[in-house]
Amino acid sequence: MNQITIAIDGYSSCGKSTLAKALAVKLGYKYVDTGAMYRCTTYYLMQKDIVGNGKIFNAEQIIKELEHIVITFQYNPTLRFSEAYLNQVNVEKEIRQMPVSENVSKVSALKEVRQKMVSLQKLMGKNKGVVMEGRDIGTAVFPNAELKLFMTADIDVRVQRRYDELHSKGTMISYDEVKKNLQERDFDDTNRKENPLVKASDAIILDNSDLNPQQQLDFVLRLIDDLQLFKAK
Ligand code: DC
Repeated sequence: MNQITIAIDGYSSCGKSTLAKALAVKLGYKYVDTGAMYRCTTYYLMQKDIVGNGKIFNAEQIIKELEHIVITFQYNPTLRFSEAYLNQVNVEKEIRQMPVSENVSKVSALKEVRQKMVSLQKLMGKNKGVVMEGRDIGTAVFPNAELKLFMTADIDVRVQRRYDELHSKGTMISYDEVKKNLQERDFDDTNRKENPLVKASDAIILDNSDLNPQQQLDFVLRLIDDLQLFKAK
């Protein structure tokens, strides 16, 4: 059976990772969380005290650091997905923390940062058989992907999901703080100059406000079947 490329884009916290991971397991495909790559970059810059903590955003300094940032993914058979490594260190936990979320959209808006990430992503998916999720996958990374999904959900549903996720991991943040962060990131991600988050003209919208993960997976598998994507050249 020939392999395809699945590009998933959408707003913050609307379940892209959950769906992408499930699809990758189901199809035996590689899963790439591109948000993790921008988060790794931001985390590195925060560790170096270049970004965050009220620092004035210094694009030149950030660009100089890029050559020292090596991002890789390693498959974790217990979790059944690939975890993000920054310069050989597993940083999955660290990059999901609020301080990184608060700075990542500004860092990811930089042209040089995006160029580096996009070329890495193209490489990771060059042999197809990949489910890649982010904000510009169907538009900039794989404009010829056989299947493009654009995910969205009601803002309060998204905030509640993110709030529950953070609290389950011990980050006791208020609902309003989570909402503010999601709204700010959505604004920055859709309004930046370089590859902003926008629905590709041929992407299929998946609003999962009222759908559980299994229903979303079933929806996409049906779609693949209906569109006869595995038969596509
Ligand atoms: O998917 P996420 O919430 O972990 O992504 C974190 C940030 O990274 C997001 O707010 C914007 C940026 N991002 C991006 O600019 N392009 C991508 N393809 C993926 C993420």
